Amino acid sequence: MDIPRIICNFAQSNQSLYSGHMNTQSLVSIDDITKEEMLQLLERARYFENNPNSKLLDGKVVATLFFEPSTRTRLSFETAVNRLGGRVIGFSDASTSSTSKGETLKDTIKMVSNYADLIVMRHFLEGAARYASEITDIPIVNAGDGANQHPSQTMLDLYSILKTQGRLDNLTITMVGDLKYGRTVHSLLMALRFFNPVFNFVSSKELAMPAEYLEVCRREGIEYHEFRDFSQEVIDSSDIIYMTRVQRERFSDAMEYEKVKNLYTLHNSMLDTSKDNLRILHPLPRVNEIDRDVDDNPKAYYFEQARNGVFARQAIITKALGLQIPPK
Ligand code: CP
Repeated sequence: MDIPRIICNFAQSNQSLYSGHMNTQSLVSIDDITKEEMLQLLERARYFENNPNSKLLDGKVVATLFFEPSTRTRLSFETAVNRLGGRVIGFSDASTSSTSKGETLKDTIKMVSNYADLIVMRHFLEGAARYASEITDIPIVNAGDGANQHPSQTMLDLYSILKTQGRLDNLTITMVGDLKYGRTVHSLLMALRFFNPVFNFVSSKELAMPAEYLEVCRREGIEYHEFRDFSQEVIDSSDIIYMTRVQRERFSDAMEYEKVKNLYTLHNSMLDTSKDNLRILHPLPRVNEIDRDVDDNPKAYYFEQARNGVFARQAIITKALGLQIPPK
């Protein structure tokens, strides 16, 4: 399905996309960009899905600094750069960098800024991307900072929702699993606040959506419901079910993780009476939140969702570097 044209004439869009940082082109948090800027990025993603290969980044170097493991985010960012004719430097394992000798994040960012035009960084500390954006003049793209934010994931999630639903407005979005430590649901909630959603939050008490995000919903007049049971009624009311993995790496007590790790698993039979337009999303990797028997159901969309990451990240990188789309 072709996504609907939304808004925007990129040729007229010369101003900085992101603001509020020392370098104004960074994408640190989804909270920093407006609804219009999000829609512009989605329009760009659509352009790149139709035109994936170009030389737009000819002569540009992008650094990918991953202080935490990743498959999709790093490889899709690197694919995005490669498809745009740029070059990639970086590390996927910080233990092979001079961080292991005690070099600070500040010094690392200053050094890499000598070599690259843009830095994509994943870090285990909340606020690390913000900090990096304040000590360099080149754009920083946050590829996940602890349990805080994952804004490029949000852009591919929005793009996936738009492609599958034909709209972003007035949808019932059910988020399931680790809503406390799951940075993807935090960013997605913040983005969807512009689109009049109804949220269902399905989690254990220990992994409930943090109070600050519930407060955002209250403040914005967004309807939300919290559930402990992943009931048929909740499934059948949903347009999107966003499953999440329990974030084992965020637990300090292994016993606490054991208690909650297997609470919610989606099986194919649970989708029998769901809406025709329902789509199942998951940022991946999954552990056992989605049974393999769901994979062949046409409502399973998580692998296509990951593919959309390349287009969303092409959009983010080109916008952060101030490149016109379509090129002049
Ligand atoms: N969705 C996501 O962030 O996946 P990776 O951890 O594999 O990058």
